[in-house]
Amino acid sequence: MRRINGRVLRAVSAIVAIALLPACGSSFNTGTITSDSVKIGLLIPQSGVYAPLGTDISRGFHLYLDAHGGQLGHRRVALVTADEGAGPDSGVPAGQKLIQQSQVAVAVGVVNSATALGLIQPYNEAKVPLIIANAGANALTGAKRSAYVWRTSFANGDVGASMGAYVASRVDFGQVYLIAPDYAAGHEQIGGFREAFEAAGGKVAGADYPPFGTTSNYQPYLARIQRSGARAVFCFFSGAEAVSFVKQYTEFGLAPTIPLYATGYLTEGSVLRGEGAAALGIQTGLHYSTELDTATNHAFVAAYVARYHAPPTVFSVAAYDAAQVLDRAMAGARTGAQIVAGLGRLGDIDSPRGTWHFSDTHNPVQRYYLREVRDQGGGLVNAILRTLSS
Ligand code: PHB
Repeated sequence: MRRINGRVLRAVSAIVAIALLPACGSSFNTGTITSDSVKIGLLIPQSGVYAPLGTDISRGFHLYLDAHGGQLGHRRVALVTADEGAGPDSGVPAGQKLIQQSQVAVAVGVVNSATALGLIQPYNEAKVPLIIANAGANALTGAKRSAYVWRTSFANGDVGASMGAYVASRVDFGQVYLIAPDYAAGHEQIGGFREAFEAAGGKVAGADYPPFGTTSNYQPYLARIQRSGARAVFCFFSGAEAVSFVKQYTEFGLAPTIPLYATGYLTEGSVLRGEGAAALGIQTGLHYSTELDTATNHAFVAAYVARYHAPPTVFSVAAYDAAQVLDRAMAGARTGAQIVAGLGRLGDIDSPRGTWHFSDTHNPVQRYYLREVRDQGGGLVNAILRTLSS
């Protein structure tokens, strides 16, 4: 056998080492976390249909952080904010960049379900905890649950299901039309509703899934609803699409004869202000309302309104809770593995939405409320009618 020259061997080893670097770097990267500082990524839509949700998530996170001296887990937080945009084409690369380029120790945020699904693998491979503060894709804490992905918001199917039996009883078992944007969240929110609704004896008159993010004219869909003979409509829309849909529903003349039911995103925060009187009387199911009568919620609403001159939303609460769970879980932790172990030990979380805890699959176990849009002293609110069973 020919003897391998020492210089060649050293050169080959150097090339092999360089080739292996990115792989080792990503699989063992635990981000920037020292005994007194931690780098955290905030991935939120700053553009697109869901930009208003991004604003609320950022506000909720900052409210907690600033009330705690800019620290989480006794460490000064260096926050890197990245734009998720409307969907996965922009959101997935932005989320990957937070790990690879910014070297964050933890990331928080993510509004769109499709974006969140695309980030499961990179975050698990890098062993960087990802705290989802909105995206409801069922698989995130279901079929695709994983060690490093946790959620402080909801699973889409659960929110839809919360309204199933109630709407079935309200329409006296008449038919209901279903409508939502054509992507993961739309199908899952409607899917959860449909299962619970049909189990309670409800009948479906028809279903439509308009393209997500590009539909601004709902007239053809509203005409189909009118022709269907439906006694009511159940929908999921959020952000800018919620405002368009609710306004056009009223303008088209359906509101007085075919009541509109939905998951609560339809009438949250700045979206509700954009809809104005067109939203009056709409009943929705959700795990939060500013109207919850608890000491924790009163204090939260007062602090939020004082700072932002606008009411908080379910989106701000999920981000506020993401900050508080990290605050507790990061105390003493130096690695992503230690942070997720800490999340697993938290137990009850005292939140503006009420007390909740993480399930074994990292999803909130929480109560859902039946809400109705009412005019309260000149301002529109989601008044709470009662607790829903789901
Ligand atoms: C989602 O994509 O999972 C999603 C987006 C907006 C919402 C709720 C769920 O309001």
